[in-house]
Amino acid sequence: MHLASLIRPASPADAAGIAHVHVESWRSTYPGMLPDRYLVGLSMAAHEKRWRGLLSGSAPPRGRRTFVAQGAGGGIIGFASCGPQRTGLPGFGGEFYALYLLDQAQGQGTGRRFLSVMAQNLLAAGTRAAMVWVLRDNPSRYFYERLGGDLLAEQPIGFAGTTLMEVAYGWTDLVPLARLAADPRVGG
Ligand SMILES: CC(C)(COP(=O)(O)OP(=O)(O)OC[C@H]1O[C@@H](n2cnc3c(N)ncnc32)[C@H](O)[C@@H]1OP(=O)(O)O)[C@@H](O)C(=O)NCCC(=O)NCCS
Repeated sequence: MHLASLIRPASPADAAGIAHVHVESWRSTYPGMLPDRYLVGLSMAAHEKRWRGLLSGSAPPRGRRTFVAQGAGGGIIGFASCGPQRTGLPGFGGEFYALYLLDQAQGQGTGRRFLSVMAQNLLAAGTRAAMVWVLRDNPSRYFYERLGGDLLAEQPIGFAGTTLMEVAYGWTDLVPLARLAADPRVGG
């Protein structure tokens, strides 16, 4: 029997679990896209500290939230965060900042549920439209297309000493996305 993971808001106690997923997922997702030296140098301890600080901060901006997925054994198998859009694309008040799952947790519908839970959270904060930036060469961009995102923009970004291309996908109405968690058969 397949047990669905539990998705819930993150607390400071999840910092180590999130850091573990962050480092593992970046190392399996980004070889060939990000410089090897950057991926090798990723530090679990530094990310744990950073996440503990982020999750302990008081009064985050409205709609800013991090969620975690707990596997059947209770460990963190994925995380996602969203909030106000940071990049000035007009017409999209919200942004999906991050969405990462361990390799073994992918392909089971958890990414879809995370995106839906974030859409619900943004709608509850009064934000009707949102977007995401993803590296152009990351095959995960097709996940966002599958979930109904429209290609909005493409731009270069400087990262870890190199220049990368990223693309933006947007949802002008988050309501259908928010409904997915309730009815996983509703597609993009
Ligand atoms: C991208 C990611 C979050 C998707 O989560 P997931 O749990 O694996 O995806 P789901 O099982 O919820 O898939 C939902 C739908 O998207 C499709 N999909 C998922 N990944 C896809 C991909 N890379 N290309 C095309 N379609 C994809 C699935 O087939 C499914 O479609 P279906 O309803 O027709 O079956 C996850 O694979 C991941 O963490 N990837 C590595 C990290 C990453 O790149 N994150 C994004 C950074 S911006």
